[in-house]
Amino acid sequence: MKKSFFLFVPIIFISAISAIMSACKQQPAVNPQSIAKAEFGKLPDGRLADLYTLTNKNGLVMKVTNFGCTVTALSVPDKNGILADIVLGFNDLQGYLKATAYFGAIIGRYGNRIAKGLFKIDGMTYTLAKNNGPNTLHGGITGFDKVIWEATEVNDSTGVGLRLHYLSKNGEEGFPGNLDVTVTYMLTNANEFRIGYEATTDKATPLNLTQHSYFNLAGAGNGDVLGHQVIIYAQRYTVVDSTLIPTGELRDVKGTPFDFTQTQTIGAKINELGGKPVGYDHNYVLNSGGTKLTLAVSVIEPVSGRMMDVYTDQPGVQFYTGNFLDGTITGKEGKVYNQYYGFCLETQKFPDSPNQPTFPNSILKPGETYKSTTIYKFYHQ
Ligand code: GLA
Repeated sequence: MKKSFFLFVPIIFISAISAIMSACKQQPAVNPQSIAKAEFGKLPDGRLADLYTLTNKNGLVMKVTNFGCTVTALSVPDKNGILADIVLGFNDLQGYLKATAYFGAIIGRYGNRIAKGLFKIDGMTYTLAKNNGPNTLHGGITGFDKVIWEATEVNDSTGVGLRLHYLSKNGEEGFPGNLDVTVTYMLTNANEFRIGYEATTDKATPLNLTQHSYFNLAGAGNGDVLGHQVIIYAQRYTVVDSTLIPTGELRDVKGTPFDFTQTQTIGAKINELGGKPVGYDHNYVLNSGGTKLTLAVSVIEPVSGRMMDVYTDQPGVQFYTGNFLDGTITGKEGKVYNQYYGFCLETQKFPDSPNQPTFPNSILKPGETYKSTTIYKFYHQ
C-alpha cells in the first residue's frame, strides 16, 4: 500500500473529530428555556382559562393555569435524572372548578381559618362568608383559588415565569378594601419554584397569601408520603381546638410527635397525634421569626432521592399531610388520591391572626405594600 494512504487516513480522522467538536460547540443548550401557552378550558360564564408550560434550562417543567394561579404539574428529576410530576392535580379545568382541596392554587385573601368568620379592625366588625363549619377557610366560598388572574409572561436570565394579577374588590367574601394583588411565579434555572407576592389596598384588610401545592416527591398518585423525611426549623407550633382554630398557645415541639427539628419521617409518629382526621394540619412557628428569607423546611424522598428545600420570609408554615383526602378524588392520569398522598407546606402568617393579639400582624393598611417571597428548591441525592 502507498505511503500517502497512511498519511491520508489520520488526516481524515483528525478533521472528522474536529468537525464533530465544532458542531457540538454550535449546538444550542439541550433545553432552551421556553414558555408555551394553550387553552385550558371554559368557565361556566364562558371565559377561557389558559395553561402555560414553563420549561427551564435544565429541562424542569412547570404547568400553570391562570385559574386560581394553579400549578397543575411540576416535573423534577430523581437521582437518575428521571423526571416525575410531583404535584397533585387534575387533567382539566373541570376538576379544578369542582374541587375543594385547593390543589396547587394561590390562597387568599386569608390563608387558613378565621374563627367564626369574624374580625374587627378599628372597632368595626366584619363578617365573612363561612365555608368550613363555623369558620372561614382559605378566603371564603370563592377564594383566590377560584378566580381568573391576568397573566403576563416573564422570560429572563433567571428563568421563565408568569406575573399574575388580580383585583379583589371591596366587600369580596366580606373583606374590606379594593386589594390589588400580583403574584410572580418563576421556574428558575437554579431549579427553584420562586413565588413573589405583592399587594396594596385602599382600606385596612387582613391578608395572608400562600401557595397550596400538594407534593409527593415519589410522583403524584404514586402512594402515600409517609416515608418522606422532613426537617422543620421550628421549635414551636400553634395549638388548635377541634375546629382547627388556634387557642393562642405556642407549644414546644420537644418530646412530641410534632418535633421535626431532627429528621423524622412523616409517618413515624403520625398515629400518636389523635384528632380527626389523624394527621399533621398545624402551623409551625418558624425559628427565623419571619424577618428575612430563611430555610424553613427540608424534605427527602429516600427511594427516588428527590429533595426539596423551602425558604420563606414568613413567620409560619402550615404543615398539612392530606388528611382530608379520602380516595374520592381521581386526579391526573386517572390516579386516585388517598389519605396522606400529598403534603403541603403553606408559608404564611398564623391561622386566625386577625383575632389573636399575640400573633404576627396580618393587617395590610392603605399606603403600605405587602411583599413576600417563598422558594421551593428542588435537587436530588
Ligand atoms: C389547609 C387546612 C386544612 C385543609 C386543607 C385543604 O391545609 O389547614 O385543614 O382545609 O387546607 O383541604
